[in-house]
Amino acid sequence: MDKFRIKGGNSLFGKVNISGAKNSALPLMCASLLTNDSIKLSNIPTLRDINTLKQLLIKLGAEIIEKPRHLDQYGNEISQELEISVKKIICDIASYDLVKTMRASILVLGPLLARNGIARISMPGGCAIGARPINLHLKGLEAMGTQITIDKGDVIARIPKGKSRLLGANYVMDKVTVTGTENLMMAATLAEGITILDNCACEPEVVDLAELLIKMGAKINGAGTTRITISGVEKLNKASHFVIPDRIETGTILTAVAACKGEVVCENTSVDLLTIVIDKLVESGAKIEQKNNSITIQMEDRPKSISIQTMPYPGFPTDMQAQAMALSSIGNGTTQIVETIFENRFLHASELNRMGAKININNHNAIIEGVDELQGAPVMATDLRASACLVIAGLAAKGETIIDRIYHLDRGYANLEQKLNAIGAMVERI
Ligand code: UD1
Repeated sequence: MDKFRIKGGNSLFGKVNISGAKNSALPLMCASLLTNDSIKLSNIPTLRDINTLKQLLIKLGAEIIEKPRHLDQYGNEISQELEISVKKIICDIASYDLVKTMRASILVLGPLLARNGIARISMPGGCAIGARPINLHLKGLEAMGTQITIDKGDVIARIPKGKSRLLGANYVMDKVTVTGTENLMMAATLAEGITILDNCACEPEVVDLAELLIKMGAKINGAGTTRITISGVEKLNKASHFVIPDRIETGTILTAVAACKGEVVCENTSVDLLTIVIDKLVESGAKIEQKNNSITIQMEDRPKSISIQTMPYPGFPTDMQAQAMALSSIGNGTTQIVETIFENRFLHASELNRMGAKININNHNAIIEGVDELQGAPVMATDLRASACLVIAGLAAKGETIIDRIYHLDRGYANLEQKLNAIGAMVERI
């Protein structure tokens, strides 16, 4: 199993190319199931989750043409272009072996059902950060006329006999769910009649998906607000789309610089995608400037303490909470972090404490008393963003940090160690 060996203590200077957003690329790829025409997607990040989804789509009937990969100025692979055609659905099953490695596989459910009339998806189990049920995806599909049964750990969703399409419906989600909103929006594009979804996720990735679907011929209004209205059409067509920048990768690099000091330009990204993260970094003492498609961060002093509460977009993203905790652990003062989205997303706190941090967890609250410096130590990554947190802590710490189970990081960051080493970090994969 790969590990990272990090020699900490270097300040970071230079430029980083931000990749396309994983959480946009995954639903965009799933949207290809809605048509027998080809969908061209560029700026797809080169990551393990993308490869897992490619395998799943191929099983379902996709032909995928991969165009040459794009390299950044240091020769790092940063993105690829995919042309996906699903002329015919040849299998309607997303099996446990793929779903268990990537929960976002659930995003094939809506499109598969809408195009094919039946889909069998292994129920994603819980994961390290929480139970993560899919009840709201299923309730929404039921509202659109789907019959749902559970058999041997699989969800079987089917349009009832005698009907050929889903039916438009009004559905209010009990809780804001990102992939739930995306799944239902995709399913509704081919339904008969109008679907009104309320309490929708407003994440930029939802808007990106709606933009592709509209290019494909879908009739969607309101993506990016809490109410999305979809007038179903009979057929969707071919389209091309450029994936938006990864706001979480951008935030992770900016937070690393805030923790290590230095001056770094993140290219091919936008502050508009992560306003609250930028606000918190400024509160911590960073100077931030935006020019065209780039963000420059400059950090000279020890970070000041900041308080954070995770919320659905445009609130502070739960996917940046762990990285913010690494920064706060060396902050000047006491920080409170409240995690409101996932019930068990503080697993990184005990690893940070092994490095000398002073963090106390009480249910959804973390109180972090900033220390002067962290000490390098062997630590264990428990999930994707927890790995990013430990990388930031390792970069800022004195001495050597070994991070085990780095495969979590490879799910969601494209060439992170090369990108960090190009700006002065010392990260080695062992
Ligand atoms: C997406 C992101 C993930 C991010 C999360 C929250 C992708 C591929 N993943 O995950 O990186 O951390 O949003 O911003 O985009 N819930 C239910 N029932 C459901 C669905 C969700 O109770 O049917 C709950 C979840 O347990 C959680 C909350 O709703 O407490 C939000 O989860 P959700 O937005 O669905 O997360 P994902 O879409 O899985």
